[in-house]
Amino acid sequence: MKNLLMVGAGSMSEALVRGWIDSGIAPTDITMTNRSDRERLYALKDELGVQIVEEENVNDYEIVVLAMQPDGVIPYVEANTWETPLLISVAAHIEPHQLEAASGLPAVCAMPNTPVAYRSGMTGLWFGPETDETDRAKATALFERVGRTAVTDAKSMSAFMAAAGCSPAFFYEIVGAMTPVLTEAGFDQDTARQIVAQAMKGSAELLSHESRETDELIADVAAPGGPTDRGVGVLRKRDLADVMASALRESAKEDHESIEKA
Ligand SMILES: NC(=O)c1ccc[n+]([C@@H]2O[C@H](COP(=O)([O-])OP(=O)(O)OC[C@H]3O[C@@H](n4cnc5c(N)ncnc54)[C@H](OP(=O)(O)O)[C@@H]3O)[C@@H](O)[C@H]2O)c1
Repeated sequence: MKNLLMVGAGSMSEALVRGWIDSGIAPTDITMTNRSDRERLYALKDELGVQIVEEENVNDYEIVVLAMQPDGVIPYVEANTWETPLLISVAAHIEPHQLEAASGLPAVCAMPNTPVAYRSGMTGLWFGPETDETDRAKATALFERVGRTAVTDAKSMSAFMAAAGCSPAFFYEIVGAMTPVLTEAGFDQDTARQIVAQAMKGSAELLSHESRETDELIADVAAPGGPTDRGVGVLRKRDLADVMASALRESAKEDHESIEKA
């Protein structure tokens, strides 16, 4: 039995494969396939050292990850006969019970983000009702190789997608707003971006190791009346908290609407 088949060779598939190889999975244990763009498939084989196939038998693999666009997922599942693999879809707006109904196998819907390429991903895992502990552990272990995971479900998936998938754009917006202050002070654009990005990365690292409330963490760096305190005061006066919560709610709402349209 071969290890892992990636059906779809687009940006998410590549990001996951890069992360998995970096985590120690042998490139030869990963097989990739797509339907049209063979040039890309061969380029990925040359660059990453993975196996590629132009026609696949899904039952040759322990795990099959569906990484095509969402509208192709159910037709693909229905077009195959499923006997053995653990079926994982990373497509948005697909629900595990749909995969299980179409395949007759336990299935997992995973929602990764592209930082998986650097093993800093955040992946939501929505386990199908037919999955058992072994399936869940296998899917969890696979995605924890490339970051962290959280269990999601029908109710929480939209908020998860907004927080893990959309919020990087919010953070880029914040970095974009802060860098001019540094370039005005004399740093070049790249250094300015690295300074803010590194401060953000360090704060994220600290947050992921801390369980104290964010107000307490702020108090650690903001002496009353000092420069941090004055800056935080500006954020509070302009109600950044409301802006950020509203942005996240809006992204979660849009996602919900697109599920309804699908
Ligand atoms: N990009 C993200 O940040 C992100 C985040 C979370 C989830 N996702 C999900 O990941 C999936 C892929 O997204 P993407 O951004 O990687 O899209 P993409 O770049 O368009 O890649 C889609 C890939 O699927 C292939 N494909 C399409 N139909 C196929 C089929 N029937 N059999 C085999 N391969 C097929 C395409 O190649 P050919 O056309 O050559 O076949 C292409 O390689 C989507 O469902 C998306 O919802 C993406």
